[in-house]
Amino acid sequence: METGKKPLAGIEEIPVSELIRSAIDARKKAYAPYSNYMVGAAVLTNELRIYTGCNIENAAYTPSICAERTAVSKAVSEGRRGFKAIAVVGSPKGEVISQYAFPCGVCRQVLREFSDPDSFFVIVAKSETDYKIYHLKELLPESFGPENLY
Ligand code: THU
Repeated sequence: METGKKPLAGIEEIPVSELIRSAIDARKKAYAPYSNYMVGAAVLTNELRIYTGCNIENAAYTPSICAERTAVSKAVSEGRRGFKAIAVVGSPKGEVISQYAFPCGVCRQVLREFSDPDSFFVIVAKSETDYKIYHLKELLPESFGPENLY
C-alpha cells in the first residue's frame, strides 16, 4: 500500500518489500534496554546493495546510535557513499509494529550527506504491505549539504 500523495518517479527500481523485510529483521537485533524502543533500518546503495542497522543504546545515554545511522555507518565504512532509499521500522519491544517510525532529525541530516534529497526515498513501514513513502526533501526541506561548502 502506498499512501503518499503523488506518484513517486523512480520507485519501480527500489526493492521495497526486500528493504522492509530487511529492516524488520534488523529490528530484532536492536539493543534498547533503556527506552525499550526497537528500531530497524535497511539502506539501499547506488550499487543496489542493502545494509541493515538497529539502534544501539548505552548506559551513558548520549553514545546511543539510531538504527538508520548504524546502517549508513556500516555501508560507508565498506566504501559505499551513495544511497537510493531507506526503510525504517520501529515500535516498543514485544509489541507488533503499529506505528510508522520516522527518522529523527539527526538521521535525516546524515542521510542527506550521502543522497540526493530530491530522489532519495524514505520508506516508513508497519509491514511489507503497509507503508508510506516520502522523498527525503519532504522530510528535510531547504537542507544544508556538502554542496554548500564548495
Ligand atoms: N531511534 C532510532 O533508532 N531511529 C530514529 O530515527 C529515532 C529513534 C532510537 C534511538 C533510541 O534508541 C530509541 O529509538 C528511542 O529514542
